[in-house]
Amino acid sequence: MQFNSIKKNGLKGNIVLFNFTILKMMYPQLYPSILSSDFSNLQLTCEYINNSLADAFHLDVMDGVFVPNISFGFPVVKAIKKHTKKPLDVHLMIVRPDNYIQKFKAAGADTLTVHLEATNNIKQTILSIKETGMKCCIAIKPATEVALLEDFIALVDSICVMSVDPGFGGQKFIESTYTKIENLKNVILTKKLKVLIKVDGGINLNNHKKVVNAGADILVVGSAIFDSNNPVEQIKILKSDN
Ligand code: DX5
Ligand code: ZN
Repeated sequence: MQFNSIKKNGLKGNIVLFNFTILKMMYPQLYPSILSSDFSNLQLTCEYINNSLADAFHLDVMDGVFVPNISFGFPVVKAIKKHTKKPLDVHLMIVRPDNYIQKFKAAGADTLTVHLEATNNIKQTILSIKETGMKCCIAIKPATEVALLEDFIALVDSICVMSVDPGFGGQKFIESTYTKIENLKNVILTKKLKVLIKVDGGINLNNHKKVVNAGADILVVGSAIFDSNNPVEQIKILKSDN
């Protein structure tokens, strides 16, 4: 009897340990931003990400109006889709994002990340994105308050807290973001939602643990991966060393 009970608890213990290990392998999710990669060799960038523990590609689309920089658009999203089975998270830093929802779906986006500051009717934008079957993420700039999300947070899959002013890779992480992530996490837990927190900008080997401890579920990392000599190893460290 006693032996059976020990056997049972031992098995339970193993299951708990197994689940914990799986969770540790899954979190945080890591989305490399290709913005800092070598654009003359996108195929190599795809290979790095495909062969790594990364969970998805993060593609920064900039129009030179919403942000003071221009990056790339549909052709690059389509080209990357051909070279990967991992999901594409397309981060739109453009004005009038509603006009392009269908086109990014057709180009291969799996998640569309749209800025709260770029839309007039956020609920309609979220609905339009969800109708296509894509996941919806709403991004907020460093100056935008978490309180502005409360009315529609239950409708989205994730919230992207920008930890730099959108527009450029390689910027310094804004320290006040930690409190913002904590506040957002409290809102999500209080409302008992399954919304994930994505943090984008200035994340590296010196601060990634602190970002996760504040409540981030998904880390978007660009230059800390692609400025290194070994992007695959860098992704592994950023993803698992928490
Ligand atoms: C900034 C972009 C980020 C950026 C991240 O506007 O949204 O995704 O590329 O790059 P790092 O990690 O270099 O800040
Ligand atoms: Zn981004």
